[in-house]
Amino acid sequence: MRIDKFLSNMGFGSRKDVKVLLKSKAVEVNGEVVRDAKQHVDEVADLITVAGEKVDYAEFIYLMMNKPPGVISATEDKYDQTVIDMLGDEERHFEPFPVGRLDKDTEGLLLLTNDGKLAHELLSPKKHVAKTYYARIDGVVTEADGEAFRNGVILDDGYQTKEAFLRILKSGVESEIELTITEGKFHQVKRMFESVGKTVVYLKRLSMGSLELDPDLELGEYRYLTEEELIGLKEKK
Ligand code: URA
Repeated sequence: MRIDKFLSNMGFGSRKDVKVLLKSKAVEVNGEVVRDAKQHVDEVADLITVAGEKVDYAEFIYLMMNKPPGVISATEDKYDQTVIDMLGDEERHFEPFPVGRLDKDTEGLLLLTNDGKLAHELLSPKKHVAKTYYARIDGVVTEADGEAFRNGVILDDGYQTKEAFLRILKSGVESEIELTITEGKFHQVKRMFESVGKTVVYLKRLSMGSLELDPDLELGEYRYLTEEELIGLKEKK
């Protein structure tokens, strides 16, 4: 792996930040100063230091993806492309998996990691991790829907949803909204709107806990979480 990618993945900032670090002669590989961002290192075998401190190769990987429609949130699928198929070899090597599922036609924020403990905490119903979605709705969304969602609505299987928060961005024949829920029932947002007689025609996840979708990520793109994003997710959720 290139030294700039390795250091960026280990939390030393963007590749640009790492270039500055390399220029400052703070980086050594097996005792030799390295200034060339393109130099390849063996991240397992080489002794890599920054300002004299050993940089340990992390066993965990944390990626944020802007999931495109038409792709399955799973590690493998017989028929469809999965979010894992969209990763490069370097990332796949860590065997990440998606934290929770987005429907095939849903876009937006998807966290991919091989950190089972963090995934479990984010998905645990006891932790009430908030997830915010942007949606376009076929139908006039009203404050009465907001009140219904706050109080909990009954889904088609009889389940009563927990308190959820609706923000109406545009109310009309086709409405635009943001909805924040703290659970992850199957097709939850779509079924909540069905329960008030409306249909979700477009759905995108914007955030999960403290983690927000990077607006610079195009559909299908992904990047490593920054140190701050990871700390935020682990501490605040
Ligand atoms: N709710 C849905 O209906 N679909 C998703 O993909 C996520 C939440």
